[in-house]
Amino acid sequence: RQRQMCIRDSETFSPLYMTNTCDAACRMCGMRRDNDALVRETADLDTVEAQLDTLLDRGMQAVALLTGEYGVERRPWAMRYVNAALRATERRGFHHVLVNVGSIDEDELPVLLDGVSRRADGMIAPKLTMCTFQETYHRETYGKFMGRDGNNPRSDYERRLTNFDRARRAGFRVANPGVLLGLCHDVAFEMIAATLHVEHLLAAGMEVYLSTPRLRKIAGGGTGRGVSDDDFVRLLALLSLALPDAKLVLTTREPREIQQRVAQLVAVLSAGSSAVTPYTEDGARFPLESSQFEVIDQRPFEAILREHLDAGVDIENFAPPAS
Ligand code: SAH
Ligand code: TRP
Ligand code: SF4
Repeated sequence: RQRQMCIRDSETFSPLYMTNTCDAACRMCGMRRDNDALVRETADLDTVEAQLDTLLDRGMQAVALLTGEYGVERRPWAMRYVNAALRATERRGFHHVLVNVGSIDEDELPVLLDGVSRRADGMIAPKLTMCTFQETYHRETYGKFMGRDGNNPRSDYERRLTNFDRARRAGFRVANPGVLLGLCHDVAFEMIAATLHVEHLLAAGMEVYLSTPRLRKIAGGGTGRGVSDDDFVRLLALLSLALPDAKLVLTTREPREIQQRVAQLVAVLSAGSSAVTPYTEDGARFPLESSQFEVIDQRPFEAILREHLDAGVDIENFAPPAS
């Protein structure tokens, strides 16, 4: 097979946290319900829509909508809340929208997708990606971090793993699984498991994005360490060889130096903030006390993406206004 050894084109999206509330208790995450150090915020829909307009004004045409994961009482609210934001993205013509809102039950998917347009074959018309990172494929480690309490929606490994299969049956064409590096020490196992999961999704006909974030600091402290820089680069190189048909995602959790080392291995560079509705006309807020985790590269996404444009790389979903 011919592989692309030269500079490759890429795409981008920015995260948009609608709320930092959560009913789950993942130990590594700033948003876990028992993290008293986190200042909670939930944006109203007008604020979310204004943020979408700000992103578009700045040339960002792809967005990930994020929330926590909720228990039975708050799930109906969460589905309607994300649905309203989804409709707002379709009205505005975003080129790609990702939903990173926890796993969803079969009977909830129609609520999430209500009013989103469909193709003739019944699948979702706009490019809409379901994101649920398994974090770790190692069951023992999963229990250690995501919990074992049956009341916690996030503690169910099986339900998390099968989320893409439900999503596909409900009309999703794109899946984004992921491994959070730093949870399980057996990184080789994680890569094999993630590769098999991606192959399963590709075989089911889905387009696949694969995320491999490294663990970052959170409000209140108490977070372990991810893999080393050198191991991280090798791991992306291996995944790009193993999975030429998947798109590897890199985020600005990583510093500029790492972005440059792996630019030719990844298909997506995602830049933004993990604070709630953080965007301004020319930048973003990065308050750790209300963010999911620390973002290392806090430059405006225009500055980050411009470096790649200047290097001759085409970046889909970013159209900086001519000035
Ligand atoms: N509540 C949703 C959305 C999660 S946010 C859900 O859990 O599915 C997206 C991702 O952020 C998580 O899946 C996890 O991989 C990552 N994450 C959580 N804590 C992190 C930390 N301390 N550092 C870096 N990434 C983290
Ligand atoms: N954690 C989410 C993800 O990895 C949201 C995200 C995407 C993000 N890009 C980011 C958070 C950049 C901070 C900075 O998909
Ligand atoms: Fe909640 Fe998601 Fe954080 Fe887990 S990773 S505590 S589900 S926001």
